[in-house]
Amino acid sequence: MQIATGNNMLNFGYWKNNATKPLEAQHELCKLVGKIADLDSARTVLDLGSGFSAPAIHWKSQYGNTNITCINTNFQQLLFAIKLVGSNISEPKADSFSLLQTNDIRFVNATATSLPFADNSVDRIIALESAQHFTPLDQFIRESKRTLRKGGLFVIAIPVIKEVPVKSSLFMKLGILSLTWASEHYSLDYIKSVIIKEDFHINEIQSIGSDVYDSLADYYMKNRKQLRERILKKYPSYLENILYKSLLKMKEVSQKGIIDYAIIKCTINRI
Ligand SMILES: C[S@@+](CC[C@H](N)C(=O)[O-])C[C@H]1O[C@@H](n2cnc3c(N)ncnc32)[C@H](O)[C@@H]1O
Repeated sequence: MQIATGNNMLNFGYWKNNATKPLEAQHELCKLVGKIADLDSARTVLDLGSGFSAPAIHWKSQYGNTNITCINTNFQQLLFAIKLVGSNISEPKADSFSLLQTNDIRFVNATATSLPFADNSVDRIIALESAQHFTPLDQFIRESKRTLRKGGLFVIAIPVIKEVPVKSSLFMKLGILSLTWASEHYSLDYIKSVIIKEDFHINEIQSIGSDVYDSLADYYMKNRKQLRERILKKYPSYLENILYKSLLKMKEVSQKGIIDYAIIKCTINRI
């Protein structure tokens, strides 16, 4: 499920520190992830699943000395991102468009499960609300491990399932969300087990679900009339109804502890 917020971030946001609108909450989420990833001491960063690169632009503005490379399978989003960054672009060749570059940020059209980078070559790998789309998950985590330098940090911010062992009962509990949550439904335990199996050490896990889902749903309920009018200019009304019901469900299952939003920070156990 993607929320059309009229801005260039594609995440739910972190509704803390007086954030009252989606864009403010989304910047708060970037700020939190940047801090957890210790970006002030990073030289090279890969942002995997970079969307329109609004998070990378945010981090670049906060941590000017950092070289950020955005990785995305969606070439159109990368092209849009380049317009957002808007500085001198080295034109891609017609037959090779995998690397585009501006003065500030690099853009690579690739998948997180096969990273076109050398072993031990980057300081940070971040996947901000994107790893739920990466399959197989273990291949993405293995690639991240291969690419990270010794002492590097790996940070994932991801919607997760917290409970529910049996698949059919998960379907029942998620209700409409099982259809509109258009990605993998990885459980936190599964993600942790894969991370550990790939020889990462988990330094910290922050569970921020209530500051993500509940407040986003409340924002939508409070402003539904205006948001609905905006949506109906482009889409049929049944889609807005689905969005509305999905947000209500999201808040319900978050409050019941069935879903959460985890920020997981890891280091490599490499000698
Ligand atoms: C929910 S969006 C999050 C975008 C961005 N991180 C943000 O917060 O605005 C997920 C992104 O992951 C990208 N994506 C999906 N599968 C991918 C893959 N296998 N490798 C790299 N990017 C992928 C999508 O194109 C999309 O840009």
